[in-house]
Amino acid sequence: MQRRLVVTLAVLALVSTAVTGCKKKSEEQVTPPQSVATSAGPAAKEPAPSATGLSGEQLFKQHCAVCHPNGGNTITPAKPLGAKAMAERSKITKPEDIVKVMRNPGPGMTKFDEGMISNDDAKKIGQYILATFP
Ligand code: HEC
Repeated sequence: MQRRLVVTLAVLALVSTAVTGCKKKSEEQVTPPQSVATSAGPAAKEPAPSATGLSGEQLFKQHCAVCHPNGGNTITPAKPLGAKAMAERSKITKPEDIVKVMRNPGPGMTKFDEGMISNDDAKKIGQYILATFP
């Protein structure tokens, strides 16, 4: 008697899991839009444009390397970004001096105002240039 009870219970359990299993599947098919919206978390890791969180090297490559590849100058070759040359030529010795050039550049160079590159990021670029190109 008990065995039969156990068997019927087992069968019932199997049937019910099969049924709920099917239900779950169909429910899952309906929900994807929601789960996609909530699982969009990883995208939040991308830095906001205002506070980039990028390194001086990354910022330099992004904004300056077009015209200053490897610290050179493709437009005005006589004005490369080597620290020694800049110190002698233009008295540029500190990251702040490079920020000044970005805010008020010479002929042929793009102007980078605070809306394009924040003061913090601009300083990072200046530090990178002085530390990287002798
Ligand atoms: C469109 C090309 C271009 C881009 C982009 C550019 N530059 Fe320049 N840069 C120039 C030119 C041309 C000069 C020479 C200007 C002059 O004759 O005074 C120059 C000169 C400089 C100088 C030297 C100035 C001097 O008097 O010796 C520095 C420092 C400099 N750029 C930094 C940067 C930084 C930092 C960036 C990126 C944020 C950048 N540049 C992006 C074209 C560019």
